[in-house]
Amino acid sequence: INIKVSNQGGNATSPLMYGIMFEDINHSGDGGIYAELIQNRAFQGSTEFPSTLNPWSPVGNTQLTLQNTSVPLSSALPISVNAVAASGTQGGLQNPGWWGFSVKSQTYKGSFWALGDYSGIFTLSLKSAVTSDVWDSVQIHSKSKPGQWVQHAFTLHPKAAPNTNNTFVLEFEGGKGSLNLNLISLFPPTYNNRPNGLRPDLMAGLKGLNPSFLRMPGGNNLEGDSYGYRWRWDRTIGPLTQRPGRPGTWGYPNTDGLGLIEYLQWCDDLAIEPILAIWSGVYLGGDAIPQADLGPYVEEAMNELEFIMGSTNTKYGALRASLGYPNPWMINYVEVGNEDNLADYTGYGSYRFRMFHDAIRAAYPNISIISSTGDYSAVAANSSTDYHNYERPNIFASQFHLFDHADRTHPILLGEYAAVQFNAPQADQGVDWSGAEKFMPFPNWVGAVGETIYTLGAERNGDIVIGCSYAPGFQNLNSYQWTPDLVSFNADPDQDVFSTSYYAIQLLSSHRYTHIAPMTADTAFGPAFFVAGYDEGTQDYTFKATVYNTTAPVPFDISFAGLNSSHSTATLTVLNAPDGLSSNTPGGSNVVRRETYRLTANGGVFSFSLNQYDIAVLTTKYS
Ligand code: AHR
Repeated sequence: INIKVSNQGGNATSPLMYGIMFEDINHSGDGGIYAELIQNRAFQGSTEFPSTLNPWSPVGNTQLTLQNTSVPLSSALPISVNAVAASGTQGGLQNPGWWGFSVKSQTYKGSFWALGDYSGIFTLSLKSAVTSDVWDSVQIHSKSKPGQWVQHAFTLHPKAAPNTNNTFVLEFEGGKGSLNLNLISLFPPTYNNRPNGLRPDLMAGLKGLNPSFLRMPGGNNLEGDSYGYRWRWDRTIGPLTQRPGRPGTWGYPNTDGLGLIEYLQWCDDLAIEPILAIWSGVYLGGDAIPQADLGPYVEEAMNELEFIMGSTNTKYGALRASLGYPNPWMINYVEVGNEDNLADYTGYGSYRFRMFHDAIRAAYPNISIISSTGDYSAVAANSSTDYHNYERPNIFASQFHLFDHADRTHPILLGEYAAVQFNAPQADQGVDWSGAEKFMPFPNWVGAVGETIYTLGAERNGDIVIGCSYAPGFQNLNSYQWTPDLVSFNADPDQDVFSTSYYAIQLLSSHRYTHIAPMTADTAFGPAFFVAGYDEGTQDYTFKATVYNTTAPVPFDISFAGLNSSHSTATLTVLNAPDGLSSNTPGGSNVVRRETYRLTANGGVFSFSLNQYDIAVLTTKYS
């Protein structure tokens, strides 16, 4: 293929081209990136998920009973555990964490709240669940007072445990007074040492993707299944004692310890743009707020925006400051709802989107407002839309041109995409959503190549595509609802599995440019798909290509206008895997091979070949 690339003209491309989509699915929040180590720390319950003692268990003959005490820890956390042990015995309760504890030689900070007249010693330990090893144990005197909840803090400095089969134990002396316990919490060091923060390994993995945005907090988990179950920003802020939690959409309760402020700090820590999803008045099950009753929900969204962005002279800006955050954050993108095209009978196009849109537009003219329909007819003039795409690799490979003729007045966020099923016998066969055909357990390489063709098509249309984010982002290997996922993990941060798609996105996302470079080629796209860009700041050319469905290598001869000399050099990075079905799986080594080559132009032309399923990026300078 002979290709000529120019740095003259070409549309400016979106600076947000690759990002992260996050919702609490697959225990990606509680039990995942939210670093809290104690599972069911505050016995939070709801009609859908009633309060439970699980997975706590008693030490010895201790009696543990859930109680709704007349003096609750807070109205948000009314249920606590009453613990009774016989006089002269050591009582206690233990927690297995989120399917184990990684115990390393580092500082763990913990706390718990106690109610009653207990006057003895508390012993807090991290222990092996199978041997007699105690990794560390600390004793503190009770500060309990009758009729009052009192917080107790402690730290543990354990020696490292050889595996995650460990348990956290809180012990007390039987017969030394009454005792109720609540909000029993333990954190390891967090990313950037934030209190109530995030797992460093998973955050480092995200940073490694060089992302530009975080779309949060969902996904279906924003919506809630039915009345009372939606995500509410005002219940996710402030001290943990004030967060009631909610029934998540994905089969487990959410603590909301990972709340609005934590999402914004996450954006700060990765220096990325928040794309804030607001609840649009419709539940996942289809229940919707009628037009006449929607006003208060629009107001709630406006209050959320004021909480985030308002000066401390505003009601909600002052609330933010009172929680310790006087400086506002900036929101430039708001998405109204999630996949509301799946519930179009609830009036998204006719009133719901419009009501949120008009209120936001009037108060914040510069916010880019994104509809969640993917359907341009339902959205207001100049607003954007979010298009979700779960496909087979072959279908993605056929969608290189999907956005070439998109309406240029409506920017498009590709807020969720992933190759979810293996290729079918017929090349054009779409995803089977009936459940008869399972989704892939882990992303595979042919899927990553298909996704790359799709996202190169998006890059080529970077004047109208805002950016793209693979979904879901995380999977706790011990409890999950959706595969495939970008990053899989368990309690041990040394065992994170970064998928084949992760490495493909990492390569593409690490090479950005300011403008799409005009290009001519003497061969049509397919089996090779490619895009070129130039960066006005760094004066780099970037050429990205992948090859799908060919037995013969594809030769490229590329000339770039304006190179320093006809013998300029370029760096070519090529990813591939042993075969298309190769996946990164728990315990396995990374199947993605990465080769880097230094090329010298011959008479201003760079020549190289790419094989089937290569994903390649070439960079060179034009001055
Ligand atoms: O990514 C998993 C789910 O897929 C999201 O929650 C939803 O938006 C989509 O249907």
